Amino acid sequence: MRLRRLLLGSAVAVVLAGTLNVVPVSAGSTPQEPSGQSLRALGARHGLYIGTAVDMAALDDANDPQYRQLVASQFNTVTAENVMKWESLEPTRGNYNWGPADKLVEFAKKNNQKVRGHVLVWQNQLPAWLTEGVANGTITTAQLRDLLRKHITTVVKRYKGKIWQWDVVNEAATDPWDSPPEIHLKGFWAQHLGAGYIADAFRWARAADPSALLFYNDYNLEAFGDKGPGDKTYFVYKMVKQLRQSGVPIDGVGSQGHLGTQYGNYDAFQVKEALDAFSDLGLATAFTEVDVRSQMTAGVQAGDSNEINPRLQASAANFSVLMQACLANRHCLSYTVWGFTDKHSWVPGWFTNPPEGLATLYDENYQPKRAYNSIKADLIFSGPPYVQPRIPQNPKR
Ligand code: G3I
Repeated sequence: MRLRRLLLGSAVAVVLAGTLNVVPVSAGSTPQEPSGQSLRALGARHGLYIGTAVDMAALDDANDPQYRQLVASQFNTVTAENVMKWESLEPTRGNYNWGPADKLVEFAKKNNQKVRGHVLVWQNQLPAWLTEGVANGTITTAQLRDLLRKHITTVVKRYKGKIWQWDVVNEAATDPWDSPPEIHLKGFWAQHLGAGYIADAFRWARAADPSALLFYNDYNLEAFGDKGPGDKTYFVYKMVKQLRQSGVPIDGVGSQGHLGTQYGNYDAFQVKEALDAFSDLGLATAFTEVDVRSQMTAGVQAGDSNEINPRLQASAANFSVLMQACLANRHCLSYTVWGFTDKHSWVPGWFTNPPEGLATLYDENYQPKRAYNSIKADLIFSGPPYVQPRIPQNPKR
């Protein structure tokens, strides 16, 4: 799959370089002109942080200096794409591998960036010793709960004062295409510990760091549907409302924002409505993992601009819808993309049948795409009265 990905990637990079949609970084502009400024500088006009997930292997690669340079220059918040997940931090029981996560936190400090911690509780990328221990009965339910408390406490304390927002619980809810279609809690933790693990996780995280903002994070939360039993956004809305009413220290909802150009997506008003509903509960909001993938048809792979250009344009429009909605919600604190270059994106390795790609702001040669300039334009051509500075969020006790 890796070979296929590489071949596909280089073909598309070559093709894109020849299309109208590859925009020179700052052609004809001086640093004083807004189009020549970085995303992070333009976001700062609104108090909005612009972030990216960081692939630590790419950041460390001496032969790939542009990756590091762009992470540092374009973004003022970073998220570990993988190295803060439990399987990375504690690959064998009791032995922690802090190195890569520490390195990201140091990089962020050096570059005056905030860090989104990702992720404390998720059913994926758990260490095998944990899942196997539960499966073979050597870890009991009571021990599992203790292990989760210890994990959260250990990780949050290690980075106490250094993490801006923690994704405390990630992707706990089903999707309408799951069975049964009524949205419900899913996965390892709900199965073994019951629904109460969510409130517990937030309380343990708060006890370990009183100053971090604590988020529930999920995908397919961009807009409300019919507010019926199959409406995931509404399910999460009701869940976090209940958590707030019970005094659980939750501070925000992260809407991941993984979109595809082949789907019927939303407009900025619909997305703003969902963000407003969450912030009306007293919660901060954020886009935490934005990317917009496209199907890599034979035409796209062959370089047919009739097929490539509509995808790049649709991708740009979707990035922009989420940015405009975020700008319009004063509690939307950050807009983070899940990788910024098609050279390092989870999409081609994950969606292989049919193949998908083109999901990020820059192509495989680090040339900014239309999507990059679209969100840049949103940051430039917006302001009062409809776009106002962010309202800071204070951690709930
Ligand atoms: O660690 C192994 C490595 O030892 C091995 O050599 C390599 C071979 O391909 O695989 C490595 O593991 C991969 C891991 O990323 C680290 O690179 C896994 O195969 C791969 O499945 C894993 O994918 C990550 C995925 O989460 C796993 O669930 C993606 O990089 C990451 O972008 C993705 O991120 C998630 C967010 O955390 C939550 N929201 C959805 C988002 C996209 O799926």
